Amino acid sequence: MSKKTEQIKADFLKAIETVRTQPDLAKLKADFIGKKGVLSEILKEMKGQPPEIIREIGQVVNQLKTEIEKTVDDKMKKIEAAVINEKLKRERIDVSLRESLFDRGLTDAGYHPVTLIQREVEDVFTSMGFEILDGPHIEDDYHNFVALNIPKHHPARDMQDTFWFSDLKHLLRTHTSPIQVRGMESRKPPFKFVGPGKVFRNEATDASHEMVFHQIEGMMVDENITVSHLIYFMKTLLSEIFGRSVEVRLRPGFFPFVEPGFELDIKCLICGGKGCSVCKHQGWLELLPCGMVHPNVLTYSGIDIKRYNGFAFGLGLDRLVMMRYGIDDIRHFHGGDLRFIRQFKSC
Ligand code: DAH
Repeated sequence: MSKKTEQIKADFLKAIETVRTQPDLAKLKADFIGKKGVLSEILKEMKGQPPEIIREIGQVVNQLKTEIEKTVDDKMKKIEAAVINEKLKRERIDVSLRESLFDRGLTDAGYHPVTLIQREVEDVFTSMGFEILDGPHIEDDYHNFVALNIPKHHPARDMQDTFWFSDLKHLLRTHTSPIQVRGMESRKPPFKFVGPGKVFRNEATDASHEMVFHQIEGMMVDENITVSHLIYFMKTLLSEIFGRSVEVRLRPGFFPFVEPGFELDIKCLICGGKGCSVCKHQGWLELLPCGMVHPNVLTYSGIDIKRYNGFAFGLGLDRLVMMRYGIDDIRHFHGGDLRFIRQFKSC
């Protein structure tokens, strides 16, 4: 009898070697130790044998059954692990981005000139201790207009027609000035920051107008701020950007959020003030609207006007790029022509 069980064991071990799937393994198990399996048959065949033989053989059969069960369990674990492995291999995704996608933009085309000049302006201001703030493109009526002293129905809104959302409360910001409001709301004076970004207007496009363009807003609030502070920072910025010292002048300009408000002009860098086609024979170029922050604006954002005051400015970045590189049409900026962008290759 033990020869028979030895043979069964050998048959089992040989068979299990070739099994690769869970159903095949379940079948093999049933064939050997199931109710109708080989081992059960042996027990059935022993009916009528003397009890000590039944006990002896029963022990051998049970031991073999336990061995088979354990071997089947081990094999089952191996098959399951292999199945999971296969699945993982099939479902594996490569989450790394191909570097070459980025290479294209940087090495083939370079940065957009507006990005380059924005970074330069940011560098100049951070070196003078200004923070850089960001603000949302989708603004609400309050931050874009009301808190800047432009109440509903104020005529100044006409100059900044934009794209409204259907709730008539939200709009694409018309200028970077709402960054001033958000900056004032979230910090206590003294502070100074700049806020660059895209702005939007419902404009008919031509060589000098686009629906999407770029500004950088600036603000400084402290005790006893004067127009001299404003002129100092603007002169420093422009001299850095143009790489030489520039002469500036202020003319009165109206913006509801500043009082007094100014248009800051620079002496034409092409003709040195003598008059040429670039400055339309004026000798001066209008560059930068600015002023002393209106007390209403400070009050709206919770700043104590008995103690603090400040200046603000809004610089058009596209205009600056056009002047620096002699670009005559703003529509090149969003034209998507890589030959245009490639000219400014630099990091
Ligand atoms: N937000 C104005 C515009 O887009 C520009 C401006 C003017 C900003 C005067 C200022 C400022 O901060 O003081 O037309």
